[in-house]
Amino acid sequence: MARRKLIYEGKAKILYEGPEPGTLIQYFKDDATAFNGERHEVVEGKGVLNNRLSEFFMLALANVGIPTHFIRRLNMREQLVREAEMIPLEVVVRNFAAGSLTRRLGMDEGTQLPRPLVEFYLKDDSLGDPIVAEEHIAAFGWASQQEIDEMVNLALRVNDVLSGLFFGVGIRLVDFKIEIGRIWENDYPRLIVADEISPDSCRLWDIRTGRKLDKDVFRHELGDLADAYTEVARRFGLLPANGFPKRPTLVN
Ligand code: TMP
Ligand code: ASP
Repeated sequence: MARRKLIYEGKAKILYEGPEPGTLIQYFKDDATAFNGERHEVVEGKGVLNNRLSEFFMLALANVGIPTHFIRRLNMREQLVREAEMIPLEVVVRNFAAGSLTRRLGMDEGTQLPRPLVEFYLKDDSLGDPIVAEEHIAAFGWASQQEIDEMVNLALRVNDVLSGLFFGVGIRLVDFKIEIGRIWENDYPRLIVADEISPDSCRLWDIRTGRKLDKDVFRHELGDLADAYTEVARRFGLLPANGFPKRPTLVN
């Protein structure tokens, strides 16, 4: 097969040039990293699970009219997506206190928040992705004031859809992160949900047992990450009857 043009390689995904202008191929790696790449391991099967789960969540958003970059899944590890001008922010929505919020404000993990909170972090590994205020975003031109308002609305709509989906399978959506891109239509910019939505970018707790089913399992060495992600996929009915093969198998 001809070598494809690599556009960008991140910690968990690779972007290649797509078959048509304005498209990209997004490849999901098995690499798991935490604490800004300080911890790194290869978790066999993670890329396959995240590819399938991200497809599922992006399609669920599209079904209720929320625009995303997702076009179609190509194979076990790759999906075709729309190329977007990425806004250099991580948009985090929180329903319950966890992670950096508990550390920053001294709250107990699991405290229900009075309403969903939307926060912005600058996507810059060299600075450790610092939290930023809307003031910084507008003043430094990362997004316009109108886009900031749109990002908040988009993030809250995504939260409503995902919270409901997860609740339906007995999982609490504690918080999540999305990344948003800009596409141009008739000279007008439009915001779409890009990157991925997967247990790498969410906090997911089993409602009944409190079991963590997300990347915190890896961050805090709580067990087998692939098992946790497989459980999420299983609840949504996304697993083939025998599960995903851990290694390529010969079928006669
Ligand atoms: P935080 O509590 O560490 O700020 O994380 C908030 C949410 O964002 C959580 O669901 C995990 C997700 N997240 C990412 O997807 N990528 C990151 O680099 C970080 C720090 C968090
Ligand atoms: N994604 C970041 C990293 O790979 C941080 C995290 O998710 O904890 O280091």
